Amino acid sequence: MTASQDTAPSRPFPHRHLLGIEGLTPDEIGLLLDQAEASVAQNRQVDKKRSDLRGLTQINLFFEESTRTRTSFELAGKRLGADVINMSVATSSIKKGETLIDTAMTLNAMNPDLLVVRHPHSGAVELLSQKVACAVINAGDGSHEHPTQALLDALTIRRRKGRLSGLLVAICGDILHSRVARSNIHLLNTMGARVRLVAPPTLLPASVERLGVEVHHDMRRGLADCDIVMMLRLQSERMHGAFVPSIREYFHFWGLDYDKLASARPDALIMHPGPMNRGVEIDSAVADDIDRSVIREQVEMGVAVRMACIEILTARLRHPERVS
Ligand code: CP
Repeated sequence: MTASQDTAPSRPFPHRHLLGIEGLTPDEIGLLLDQAEASVAQNRQVDKKRSDLRGLTQINLFFEESTRTRTSFELAGKRLGADVINMSVATSSIKKGETLIDTAMTLNAMNPDLLVVRHPHSGAVELLSQKVACAVINAGDGSHEHPTQALLDALTIRRRKGRLSGLLVAICGDILHSRVARSNIHLLNTMGARVRLVAPPTLLPASVERLGVEVHHDMRRGLADCDIVMMLRLQSERMHGAFVPSIREYFHFWGLDYDKLASARPDALIMHPGPMNRGVEIDSAVADDIDRSVIREQVEMGVAVRMACIEILTARLRHPERVS
């Protein structure tokens, strides 16, 4: 294990938990992104491990499926030297009827330093955070927020474009059910980007005009002059009823292919939080275009961003003298 580097955040972060992007200031978002930037090079080395979090315990508690978020939180904690426990909901006492709150209080009794929680219900992670003594990170709650996804998207954009402010970002597809869209809208608006939502009316929330975005119901017009094209999956697990006539028709009107992409700027980046449904919201060739698509880079930045969130939320334990 590499000796502990002094990776203490450059300034205090005034929140005990990271439950959402809404309410964070540009300076707080900038702090998280700068801290993440510092881990990108480390994650490309052979020796990726530090000892900063030695002695601290992180529990990952996922009530919903995940590949990227769960794995990257596990890697992030381990690369920082924490003891990381992945609690499997499928084999836990939740299956015997134990409630979310009783589960949280049971885990709390084991004195963890950090809980990372994904839950299918909006607000469940915040409720849980009120019952425990440690820091809590929201790894996605229902259709509410997915803050670390928005941060990793922002880091990817900032590294490629050199800034967030002034960029025109189109978020396309199933906005209604998307926590990724909600967190990205908050982050991009806070950081001075312009956001366009491009979707059929059935896949937009009722109060969309209050989000501070432009809305388009035509893909080519919505993508015109965009710097970033962010595609979203149709989230059928959160749909009750039919929101689109057929997959074939959805791809025809709303799937990203080269023809529709031609409306965006020639240097526009293609993004997708994953998991992708090829041939539904995105054409395979576009998704794999090494000159335009940064989808794999988003996954890489996910580890650095989650390391930053863990470091910043545990800083008060590791550097109590620096907390005002
Ligand atoms: N983007 C995202 O949250 O992916 P997972 O569901 O695989 O974690």
